[in-house]
Amino acid sequence: METIEITKPFNGHVHFRNGQMMKDVVPYTAQHYFGGVCMGNLPGDEVIDTIEKNLAYKGAILEIAPSFKAIVPLMVTQNLLANRKTIFPAAKKLGIRVYKFLPGGLSTNGSPGLSLYDFYTPAFREFFELLIENDCVFSCHFEVEFDTNGKKIDPRYQEEQAILFLQYLLRNFPKLKIMVEHASSWQMIHFIRNLPRKYRIGVTLAIHHASITFPMVINWRGKFVDSRLYCKPIAKYPKDREAVIEAMFSGDPRFFLGTDSAPHLLEAKIRKEKPAAGIFSDPISLQKYAELFDAHGKRKYFENFASIFGPEFYGLDPSKEKITLVKEAEKNPKLIAGIPVFLGGGETAWRVKN
Ligand code: DOR
Ligand code: ZN
Repeated sequence: METIEITKPFNGHVHFRNGQMMKDVVPYTAQHYFGGVCMGNLPGDEVIDTIEKNLAYKGAILEIAPSFKAIVPLMVTQNLLANRKTIFPAAKKLGIRVYKFLPGGLSTNGSPGLSLYDFYTPAFREFFELLIENDCVFSCHFEVEFDTNGKKIDPRYQEEQAILFLQYLLRNFPKLKIMVEHASSWQMIHFIRNLPRKYRIGVTLAIHHASITFPMVINWRGKFVDSRLYCKPIAKYPKDREAVIEAMFSGDPRFFLGTDSAPHLLEAKIRKEKPAAGIFSDPISLQKYAELFDAHGKRKYFENFASIFGPEFYGLDPSKEKITLVKEAEKNPKLIAGIPVFLGGGETAWRVKN
């Protein structure tokens, strides 16, 4: 039987939520990934934007998965920006070096009142200087919801429009270490692939952006075909999917695995009014990446993409453990604890050996 053995992978982008859902989902990630960047866009007051919340959140993850190497970013909110001068030194002492920005209104529980346009404000500019001084990572969801006239931008074009803001950062803060989360458009990917290597940039690529396209999610009338496949950035077109896949196989260390596994209960995913954005993929994500690399004859690029480049970007040693995948078809679970699983009910050509 055909097998692939690689260093245990690292998930550069994952959502665990809190409470019972967290207990339900963390084991699926920890089983296949030795560590990961765990996003703290929790609802309302619970968003992880203080040191206290950050430590408590990391503690809660470790209680469920003690050996999981959890990187928990501080979320950039108005509160965090206002307290930046005190938060930075305290965070540094505790080894917290990643700051994540999810603009408000774009997706699930972003920072209310803030968008990429705020990059131009003195508070953000000072914040970027502090990031550079403290050698921290700025992890950002690069999408812009409104144009300069306040008109809503079609979700399909929100990422390519955000390239202007990335250019602004590179021009004004060339030393800033930037994580471009879940790149999904050919424009963003081509822009980054053509950047000089002197810029300190990392990009995570999600398996759903290498698998699905816009018409599978929304039809030509603008109605959902399958809201379980709805996520932000939204899946785009074959040309975009090809760019994602090619970047995965490029051997370029700037591109690495980050699933953006983002659980929501079935009722939130299929409700008529504004279904929740996010795809819960971690029960099958590693198997799907393996399937993709194998199907294209690109197995030799798999381990660096999945297990080496991500830890390198975050200054971690890769795992000392190995994981083995076996080429044997397995059915994808439909629902886990009430949460629809990506491609649930379908099949994956590879499974993880127990
Ligand atoms: O689809 C998404 N879901 N995109 C995000 O940026 C957030 C995530 C979530 O937390 O559900
Ligand atoms: Zn995310």
